[in-house]
Amino acid sequence: MNSSFKTVITYGTFDLFHYGHLEILRRAKELGDYLIVGLSTDAFNRIKNKKCIFAYEKREEILKSIKYVDKIIPENSWSQKPFDIKKFDVDIFVMGDDWRGKFDELTDSCDVQYLPRTKGVSTSELKQIIDK
Ligand code: CTP
Repeated sequence: MNSSFKTVITYGTFDLFHYGHLEILRRAKELGDYLIVGLSTDAFNRIKNKKCIFAYEKREEILKSIKYVDKIIPENSWSQKPFDIKKFDVDIFVMGDDWRGKFDELTDSCDVQYLPRTKGVSTSELKQIIDK
């Protein structure tokens, strides 16, 4: 493959899709040519103690409609990232900076970038507002 072609990967739950999600996907795609999103499955969210409003298939449908997203793969476990990076020949791994330092071991196989979170919005906050 053309060596200037860059594949980017990011992971997340993307529940109650919001502007912060759109922004990280836009900036991730800007870093390369092809963006893969590892979307946390409902079973993995249970492992992470993350309560989701929308099931995997619904979150996937929303992500599929985002122009920055080229491919969606299920994220089933904490340990799959190095395998995905190898399998999809990933050049850049991106996460929001709430994860800063958490995935530094991946620098052995690709560039790791933590992008600043968009201020003032998060799924947890939206859930709290809905619950009120
Ligand atoms: N993200 C971001 N800016 C925000 C919210 C999220 O850049 N305001 C990024 C996260 O850093 C992560 C990705 O979006 O890389 C997916 O985050 P996710 O956990 O699904 O969304 P959050 O809104 O952070 O959900 P929660 O509040 O449940 O953690």
